[in-house]
Amino acid sequence: MTQTPTAQIPTETATQPGTIYQPDLVVVDEIIQETIDTRTYRLRFKDDAKAQSFAFRAGQFGEYSVFGAGESTFCIASPPTRSGYIECTVKAAGKMTGSLAEVNVGDTLGFRGPYGNVFPVDEWEGRNLVFIAGGIGLAPVRCVIWNVLDQRERFGDVTIVYGARSVGDLVYKRELEEWAGRDDVRLVTTVDPGGETPDWTGEVGYVTPVVEQAAPNPDNAVVVLCGPPIVVKLTLPVLDRLGFADTAIYTTLENRMKCGLGKCGRCNIGSVYVCKDGPVFTAAQIKTLPQEF
Ligand code: FES
Repeated sequence: MTQTPTAQIPTETATQPGTIYQPDLVVVDEIIQETIDTRTYRLRFKDDAKAQSFAFRAGQFGEYSVFGAGESTFCIASPPTRSGYIECTVKAAGKMTGSLAEVNVGDTLGFRGPYGNVFPVDEWEGRNLVFIAGGIGLAPVRCVIWNVLDQRERFGDVTIVYGARSVGDLVYKRELEEWAGRDDVRLVTTVDPGGETPDWTGEVGYVTPVVEQAAPNPDNAVVVLCGPPIVVKLTLPVLDRLGFADTAIYTTLENRMKCGLGKCGRCNIGSVYVCKDGPVFTAAQIKTLPQEF
């Protein structure tokens, strides 16, 4: 029988000190309202020694807790190349995320992590990079994008294709503007038909056909693809047609993760534990998983 970790609803004073479920305390330093229901939280460790020693790599995730409300798994959306803080971007959609939507700058949250495997960014040195994201799927991709842009000289061409349902659903709008203004980044943004506004200058259409139109060159290239499962599923055959090898396409899965530690058994797909064996997988690996993906 599946064992659920006992720290699902932590309180600030009862967080099982000394256990693997004990979160570190983090302070909310900044909140950016990305869309009507999605916010980005910039978090700083309360403990200076922890703040200095904390390290992670692109692709990893954490367990974030609102004391008294519960904890949830989100990727670390800020890049490992920027220290002193971590960021997560969260859509309010349930009890914990609804509570998170009510926290304010200065409030204290819990964080444990980092967990999971990583995007092998160092192995991509000299290669061309194609980032494809749909909706809030840009959060894990943004971590890699800034990791790469902060070390721009190490990598080849950078292409970003990002789509959302509507202009109002686009996250990281300030960063999209910044990327659009760079001459070392090719950015293609799109919104679903009907989601455009009169002043919208990007594409109108679903992400998948826009990727096909943009036709990124597969030579010496790596793809990072994240988004709603349907976007990932429909885009994989397009990448195949464009000539990208399954081993050169990376994505990150979020599969009902709970403990983040390989203990609760909530995240497994067949014999694979998303929290321990992932969350980063290549398309080649995903194709070997049971059909639930
Ligand atoms: S999230 Fe608990 S085993 Fe993976």
